[in-house]
Amino acid sequence: MPVVTCIEDLRRIAERRVAKAIFDYVSRGSYSEETLRANRADLEAVHLRQRVAIDVDKRSTKTTLVGQDVAMPVAIAPVGLTGLNWADGEILGARAAARFGVPFTLSTMSICSIEDVASEVQKPFWFQLYVFRDRGFAASLIERAKAAKCSALVLTLDLQIQGQRHMDLKNGLAVPPRLTPGTVLDILKKPGWALNVMTSRRRSFGNLEGQIKGADNLLTLSQWIAGQFDPTLSWRDVEWVKKLWGGKLILKGILDAEDARIAVSTGADAVVVSNHGGRQLDGTISSIRALPEVVDAVAGRCEVFFDGGIRSGQDVLRALAHGARGALIGRAFAWALGALGEEGVSLALEIIRKELDVSMALCGLKDVREARPSILRSG
Ligand code: GLV
Repeated sequence: MPVVTCIEDLRRIAERRVAKAIFDYVSRGSYSEETLRANRADLEAVHLRQRVAIDVDKRSTKTTLVGQDVAMPVAIAPVGLTGLNWADGEILGARAAARFGVPFTLSTMSICSIEDVASEVQKPFWFQLYVFRDRGFAASLIERAKAAKCSALVLTLDLQIQGQRHMDLKNGLAVPPRLTPGTVLDILKKPGWALNVMTSRRRSFGNLEGQIKGADNLLTLSQWIAGQFDPTLSWRDVEWVKKLWGGKLILKGILDAEDARIAVSTGADAVVVSNHGGRQLDGTISSIRALPEVVDAVAGRCEVFFDGGIRSGQDVLRALAHGARGALIGRAFAWALGALGEEGVSLALEIIRKELDVSMALCGLKDVREARPSILRSG
């Protein structure tokens, strides 16, 4: 077992262990992947400001996200198909997050259902919602999240129409995963994954099985999304969701000041600045470039979270310095899970926390809540 020191190590282990179609689903982006690359390139171009001879003993990474205490300003992002990276992955991820003290977000498109996770994990988790054409079904998901005592609802606004991910089509990504002449060779090289995932009880969309026709045997994910997700979704529907839900509401997929102002006016508790990890509108700006204008537009009226390219504690600090209250990790989480299961997720969280803590110290910062633009180099 190699010594794991960073998220990149976990990514490499996951690439060797997880079936290519699933690994590519997690790792790749839409179309030419320009926005996927911009997310990383623009984060790396943000320079932290090294400071010296400042007492940085007794540091704290603790803060709150939508009023909930967290060990560090990070939450696990909703990731579809999580349980195909490692059997029961959503339960394992939620457990690791609960133990660590950060929120776990369960995707609508998860393999384990809301009820599966709620029965296996003691602490409340967040639930991410996609609005379906069948509004009765969307409403029932909200009711199920309430019954499971989820502590926030994350409504995703940037994926009513799916951006094309070329690799998913080339790989014939299907749920449950299928053995085809094209995939058999890859899967033979990944016996650990095959034994773990292909023999697992849960292999299709836990939240949708028995509820939505065809949900337990999809031709391709993209075709199915096109049929089920409601492209008429509008701000009026956001109000409908807010009223039905009645709890903490987080709006995900805001990349523009104008949308941010409307989001605030709905009374949301937080927005997530996101381009869906470069998986949707290719050619749009990186999340880190959009963050300052959203922070300005929101003007403290709700919390601002960030996602898109976070691979380290340094990246978390970069986002906080731009005004984010917290950051979501999607790929970093899924790779960690795909590499080493629950232990991998705990390790990834610990790696990021340590990097954040040391980087804060080297910037002369003791309390993560005091990250400001002043910890960045302006030139
Ligand atoms: C979302 O569900 C995605 O596949 O990006």
